[in-house]
Amino acid sequence: MQLPVFVLLPLLVKFAAASVLPTDIDALANEANILQNYEIKSDEQIISSVIGQLNHTLGTSNNCTACVTRLSIGKTLVETRPDLVAPAFTKWCLDSGFYDANTCQQNFGISTIEHSEGGANFADMLSYMDPLGYDGQLFCYYKEGSHCKKPATPNVTVSNMWPPKSPEHMAAPEPGNNGTFKVLHISDLHIDMDYTVGNEANCTDPICCTPRSHNKHKLNGTSPYMGYWNSFFDSYYNDDFSFEQGTEVNPFNNSNVWTPATSFGNYMCDPPERLINSSLNNVIDYAKQQNFTFDFTIFTGDMVDHDWTKEISLEDTIKSEESVLRDIKSRLGSTPVYPVLGNHDSYPYGQLAPEGFSFSNKFTWNTELISDIMQDYDWVSNEEAQQARAHYTGYAVETKMGLKVISLNSNTWYRKNDYAYMNASNPDNFGMFKFLIDELVASEAKNQRVWITAHIPSGSSALPLPSKMFAEIVERFSPSTIAGIFFGHTHMDQFEILYAGSGNDTKSIENVLNHAWIAPSITPWGGINPAWRYYEVDSTTFSVMNMHTFYMKLNDTYTNNGAEPQWQHEYAARDVYNVSWPATSPLNGTFWHLVAEQVGQSVDVRQTYENYSNRFSPYTPVCKSTKGCDGDYCFLTSFTLDGYDKCMAALPK
Ligand SMILES: *[C@@H]1O[C@H](CO)[C@@H](O)[C@H](O)[C@H]1NC(C)=O
Ligand SMILES: *[C@@H]1O[C@H](CO)[C@@H](O)[C@H](O)[C@H]1NC(C)=O
Ligand SMILES: *[C@@H]1O[C@H](CO)[C@@H](O)[C@H](O)[C@H]1NC(C)=O
Ligand SMILES: *[C@@H]1O[C@H](CO)[C@@H](O)[C@H](O)[C@H]1NC(C)=O
Ligand SMILES: *[C@@H]1O[C@H](CO)[C@@H](O)[C@H](O)[C@H]1NC(C)=O
Ligand SMILES: *[C@@H]1O[C@H](CO)[C@@H](O)[C@H](O)[C@H]1NC(C)=O
Ligand SMILES: *[C@@H]1O[C@H](CO)[C@@H](O)[C@H](O)[C@H]1NC(C)=O
Ligand SMILES: *[C@@H]1O[C@H](CO)[C@@H](O)[C@H](O)[C@H]1NC(C)=O
Ligand SMILES: *[C@@H]1O[C@H](CO)[C@@H](O)[C@H](O)[C@H]1NC(C)=O
Ligand SMILES: *[C@@H]1O[C@H](CO)[C@@H](O)[C@H](O)[C@H]1NC(C)=O
Ligand SMILES: *[C@@H]1O[C@H](CO)[C@@H](O)[C@H](O)[C@H]1NC(C)=O
Ligand SMILES: *[C@@H]1O[C@H](CO)[C@@H](O)[C@H](O)[C@H]1NC(C)=O
Repeated sequence: MQLPVFVLLPLLVKFAAASVLPTDIDALANEANILQNYEIKSDEQIISSVIGQLNHTLGTSNNCTACVTRLSIGKTLVETRPDLVAPAFTKWCLDSGFYDANTCQQNFGISTIEHSEGGANFADMLSYMDPLGYDGQLFCYYKEGSHCKKPATPNVTVSNMWPPKSPEHMAAPEPGNNGTFKVLHISDLHIDMDYTVGNEANCTDPICCTPRSHNKHKLNGTSPYMGYWNSFFDSYYNDDFSFEQGTEVNPFNNSNVWTPATSFGNYMCDPPERLINSSLNNVIDYAKQQNFTFDFTIFTGDMVDHDWTKEISLEDTIKSEESVLRDIKSRLGSTPVYPVLGNHDSYPYGQLAPEGFSFSNKFTWNTELISDIMQDYDWVSNEEAQQARAHYTGYAVETKMGLKVISLNSNTWYRKNDYAYMNASNPDNFGMFKFLIDELVASEAKNQRVWITAHIPSGSSALPLPSKMFAEIVERFSPSTIAGIFFGHTHMDQFEILYAGSGNDTKSIENVLNHAWIAPSITPWGGINPAWRYYEVDSTTFSVMNMHTFYMKLNDTYTNNGAEPQWQHEYAARDVYNVSWPATSPLNGTFWHLVAEQVGQSVDVRQTYENYSNRFSPYTPVCKSTKGCDGDYCFLTSFTLDGYDKCMAALPK
């Protein structure tokens, strides 16, 4: 990269005089006179000088150079005054209108226990990142809105961390004849502790139905739902799960509310706790009625709501996590639950540092909290809880039938996690893959099968390098050792297939190696119906034989006089796609490959997939008349981000 002319500012004068671009910006910070300059100035003067330089970057037409230069300016500042990074960048961002005020606060705001803002994490990142190399360009592409081009993914590997694959580990074992057992999968609960019946559900904020939600346009007259919607009750469930309708609220006396929030939720809101209790009641009612129990539960994360980070305090985060896990425990009793943390289950939002840095302990409270709860609720053994406490990027448990479940913290590949941009070309910059590989090698050696759970799918929504490294690992241990992979995060009911070649593959039946299940959410936020699912699992091999999803039509609860939602069986995966598949074969990657081929070829099958993906919500895209479904095949057949991008780029425009 060329040395940009506008960097030639007082602070960087030495740098310019050298007239060669230093490969390591650290050299710059070591300039004694720069440090002295900071020391003799007041905080206000330093901030003003930094803002002046940041302002100057806005004068260039090359957005990439401007972005990496801002990172370099921040990196110089962080060496001497890390405490001034947040105030300087926040003020600059607000004054220049670089982002809207909320985003400025979220990305750069001073971190306090009152507001989930990432300024201190941004500063931590700067102190270890290489702004002019891969780290900086990746950041400027993903976190700063495509201000650099997507940099080429480094050709690195983690394959040195495992022994070669032996011939007996080339195929998956065929299911046994000892029947199946059942595993519950729930995801993305996003409890809204502030949900209030009667508040604005048609708001112009990110999250509606809270006392802060409002519509910036004034309603002239009365709500169109007056006299039609009738479910405005402060209802709740008792500890014995019985339902109380509670008192009725009259929301139509407030002429400022366009669409009042009803008892059980709205498509623009995260759920009230009563909807979470209703979902969990349905889970156990169904199992009771069918005379079975779940052997265990996987929960793929996200307990905290989607409100602006400035509205989320540390206490809210802790309370949300505790409430959701308590509600789950209250319903599932002695069934063990293996949770993972989602991008919302962190503080500040989306952040997670690698272990072994001075700032790593900013995140230990969370794994300690969750590990304590897992231990108190008897979900894991004391030793397993100890491992979860000690390695906050993952933990492994062995179920009583002998399956290993490895749970990962996917903030390690999350694009909004600042720490993921530190040493981003290192194939294992969080040490999480070493943990995963060691567990897999140990299981393979004793022919033990493994499930992997994480919140964010490794394909279309991850950072490219960890996505590719994860695919490499799954490829090595598939299909013989890895019997299942389970994600959440997208809120949609989806899956993604891994073909041999870790992304630059041929998507053929011969190449299919594995696939991941992506579970639907309980939150309706984003326009989908609440859903949960369970798997029928082969008792011998732990391969998934069938999957059943349940949902309720949220909009039916608007007009049912406050009654409980009506949940129903939505579909069984074996029944709805026209794939001829032996009853004795698991729903493995090959099955889903055959489904994906049909999704790619037929608009009708795409529609079927979208109907289930959205749980028949009023917002389900109509594939015939919109281009909304065109990317479905790419999504379903990409296990790596680069593979997904390549597939999407090849779509007809
Ligand atoms: C540079 O970024 C700004 C702000 O995001 C944008 O409006 C502009 O189009 C970008 N310029 C180029 C050349 O991409
Ligand atoms: C930076 O630019 C903003 C407007 O874009 C201006 O209000 C502010 O005074 C400038 N600050 C400095 C220190 O140059
Ligand atoms: C990685 O290797 C491929 C093929 O050998 C090449 O096209 C690509 O440019 C390389 N990427 C980098 C970042 O070196
Ligand atoms: C068959 O499954 C049952 C539990 O469902 C278990 O107790 C038994 O040990 C299993 N038998 C074999 C041979 O795996
Ligand atoms: C929601 O509010 C917008 C104005 O912000 C209005 O145009 C729209 O009609 C409202 N929708 C409903 C369903 O009331
Ligand atoms: C509200 O609507 C009525 C009739 O539809 C109109 O006469 C009146 O001017 C409107 N008021 C405002 C404040 O827009
Ligand atoms: C949800 O269930 C929990 C556990 O039984 C209970 O403590 C809580 O009050 C319930 N909340 C509502 C709103 O139903
Ligand atoms: C509307 O009615 C509810 C009770 O149903 C009451 O709590 C609220 O204060 C009333 N609001 C207004 C603006 O009158
Ligand atoms: C569950 O058990 C009860 C009592 O034994 C029986 O009446 C009912 O038919 C069973 N239900 C199913 C779905 O097997
Ligand atoms: C990807 O494709 C290139 C060229 O076709 C090949 O050299 C490389 O080995 C492939 N990578 C993997 C992981 O299979
Ligand atoms: C899926 O199962 C079928 C039948 O058991 C088997 O032929 C196929 O190889 C399996 N596919 C994978 C990816 O393991
Ligand atoms: C809810 O939405 C679905 C899908 O749009 C629709 O078929 C159904 O009629 C709606 N229910 C009510 C009560 O409006």
